[in-house]
Amino acid sequence: MQNPFASLGHVCAVIGAQWGDEGKGKVIDLLAERFDIVARACGGANAGHTIVVKGKKHVFHLLPSGALHSNTTVVIGSGLVLHLPTLLEEIRTLKDAGIDVLPRLFISEEAHILFDFHKDIDAALEEQRKVREGKGIGTTKRGIGPAYMDKAARSGTRMESLRGALTPVLARHAERVQRLYGVTVDQAKELKNLEEARALLAERITDTVGMLHERLQKDKKILIEGAQASLLDLDHGTYPYVTSSATTLAGALQGLGLPPQALTSCIGVAKAYCTRVGEGEFASEVTGQAGDRLRERGGEYGSTTGRPRRCGWLSIPDLRRSAMINGFTHWNITKLDVLDEEAEIPVCMGIASDGKAEWKKLPGWKTSTVGITAFAKLPKEAQEYLQFIEQETGVPAWLIGTGPGREQMIVR
Ligand code: GDP
Ligand code: IMO
Ligand code: MG
Repeated sequence: MQNPFASLGHVCAVIGAQWGDEGKGKVIDLLAERFDIVARACGGANAGHTIVVKGKKHVFHLLPSGALHSNTTVVIGSGLVLHLPTLLEEIRTLKDAGIDVLPRLFISEEAHILFDFHKDIDAALEEQRKVREGKGIGTTKRGIGPAYMDKAARSGTRMESLRGALTPVLARHAERVQRLYGVTVDQAKELKNLEEARALLAERITDTVGMLHERLQKDKKILIEGAQASLLDLDHGTYPYVTSSATTLAGALQGLGLPPQALTSCIGVAKAYCTRVGEGEFASEVTGQAGDRLRERGGEYGSTTGRPRRCGWLSIPDLRRSAMINGFTHWNITKLDVLDEEAEIPVCMGIASDGKAEWKKLPGWKTSTVGITAFAKLPKEAQEYLQFIEQETGVPAWLIGTGPGREQMIVR
């Protein structure tokens, strides 16, 4: 039999097609053993990527989700903003689970440091939005916006700075942050965080761009782990209810310093329905019983903040737009099993001039698909649902999730 993974080629990116939490972590974990390197490209600890292996749950915020495979090299690219205590905590948690990631971890010297004061500014800005505009963005309060603001303002501090004197760096930030935001920096605590990180990570900080290109020349395979998702992209998402980084394929390549022609495939990850955390438009949202049913069956509570996720039906225009911007070559449609009890499944086909969703109703299958691993074993209506997505988007539904576990996936 032909290897179904051959079509991915040497450099494959996994990118969220909706508003995040589509199940990127799970597919990364599944594919990682077929690649030499797994690389996170952008974002920060606003990401929460969950994987379930033999019933045990692991949540990754900064480390790539491929880290569980002991032969995989893991890279944290230039585009990230790194909260160092969170990274150290993640490394420690894995070590407690018997996985030593440190010797195979490479962190870009160009990645930016996200300080505790960035979180304080994030909280202060959200509070101001609530007071002045009636509502905030609903950020994860992980300091993401302010860290990227500093980066864009050319006031940020990169990982390479851990090689030099730290006290003057903090004094400069303390003066600036007090002046601009009225936020007081706890310099002693920040210094302790930096020193702890330096002690553990100094030797892991390197030129990851050069390293990735060198490995490519040696025919090594790279799996790129996107974070957040296309509809949260700073340029192409539902602005201003977006995150502060470029979350698309182009942003991922930029974040790793890889040229577009290096890429051989791009997997778009989309739930068989849709969710969103935080504020902002969501035309196919459903409230009431149907929304509650999706939330409970899908376990739709944030992996980073624990917030209940807003739930709704699939939006074909959103999938088409994400596929267009990212050039998806394959879909991973996840959480098909969550729809198992629905008698009929509405799908949003467009938005009317009054902003309301235009629906098409597809028949449900009312039978369990949990754990099914062959497309032919799916009930006919489920097959037709997936074929409908393929026809409407022009992208093949190659992987189909039928449960949270690593093995609960159809590979076609
Ligand atoms: P990510 O941020 O894109 O990696 O997604 P999250 O980990 O935040 O959220 C996805 C959630 O759905 C996690 O709890 C996964 O364990 C779970 N999950 C992923 N794929 C499936 C699936 O096919 N079926 C079900 N029932 N759960 C899934
Ligand atoms: P993963 O990688 C879901 C959302 C937040 C908020 C908006 C801005 O797990 O899919 P931020 O803290 O980034 O300034 O918040 O973006 N958000 C996510 N929602 N999954 C994520 O990541 C998210 N990362 C950010 O909820 O609405
Ligand atoms: Mg998530």
